[in-house]
Amino acid sequence: MHSSGKIFFAFGTCVLFALIAYTSSCRREPVYIGYEDPTPIDTTGNPVDTTPVVVTHPCSPDSVYFEQDILPILTSNCAMSGCHDVLSHEEGVILDNYTNTRNTGKINLSNPSNSKLYRVLNQSGGDRMPPSPRTALPADQRALILKWIQQGAQNLTCDSACDTTNVTFSTSVMPLITLKCKGCHSGTSPSGNVSLTNYTQVKASVTNGTLLGSILHQTGYSAMPQPVANGPLPDCDIRKIQIWVAAGSPDN
Ligand code: HEC
Repeated sequence: MHSSGKIFFAFGTCVLFALIAYTSSCRREPVYIGYEDPTPIDTTGNPVDTTPVVVTHPCSPDSVYFEQDILPILTSNCAMSGCHDVLSHEEGVILDNYTNTRNTGKINLSNPSNSKLYRVLNQSGGDRMPPSPRTALPADQRALILKWIQQGAQNLTCDSACDTTNVTFSTSVMPLITLKCKGCHSGTSPSGNVSLTNYTQVKASVTNGTLLGSILHQTGYSAMPQPVANGPLPDCDIRKIQIWVAAGSPDN
């Protein structure tokens, strides 16, 4: 008993020393095993949406997607009251959604450039759409409509990841305003007397609070974009505008 107690004591002391030695001298830098955080912390003070975007069907740069690429052009230039919304249906043409556009847009798949929907965009004088005082569609939007018809005027969909890195006025904000707002907010009599065709005009709407107020559907502002029935801007567009505004809405 006596000797086994000694052994036990000696053993215990060893373990104790080993433990002290380990905890004091073997403290190492923590090694991070795993993957990097895909959503880095936003230092601009904006709420960052950390919902992971599952991109199962990525967008192809070669394909034209009706909801993303074509419908915003039609709703902001054609499908308004007095023109080609359901109620007005001028000449029976309704351009407020895929089915109506497909059924009433006089699309000619065998001769795409001869489709009425495309031809009227290029006509001169009183036959051009959208009619004066609205401005003609920019060439790139006309080309996109033609490309959509050439690809079969389909209702393709895809999941686009929201890239909010390097948000700038010229690459992120103005393109979306051109696509989704400018049809109504340009020309000699812009809707609501609000022009959004260049930096100075967009900046003025930021400064007076109406840009964010209207796209966030805040009370006291007219909800944008119209028609309101089509819903607010996609979250990704709103986030880009918010990030740009939070950065001081620079002309970059
Ligand atoms: C289909 C036409 C149409 C489209 C598209 C449209 N707007 Fe408007 N917008 C209007 C009309 C009409 C008014 C005046 C509304 C009113 O007085 O109720 C208006 C008013 C506004 C105002 C002033 C709001 C206020 O409360 O004073 C802002 C800012 C604005 N729009 C921004 C936008 C932005 C940004 C977009 C694109 C995301 C957009 N609009 C898309 C028709 C449109």
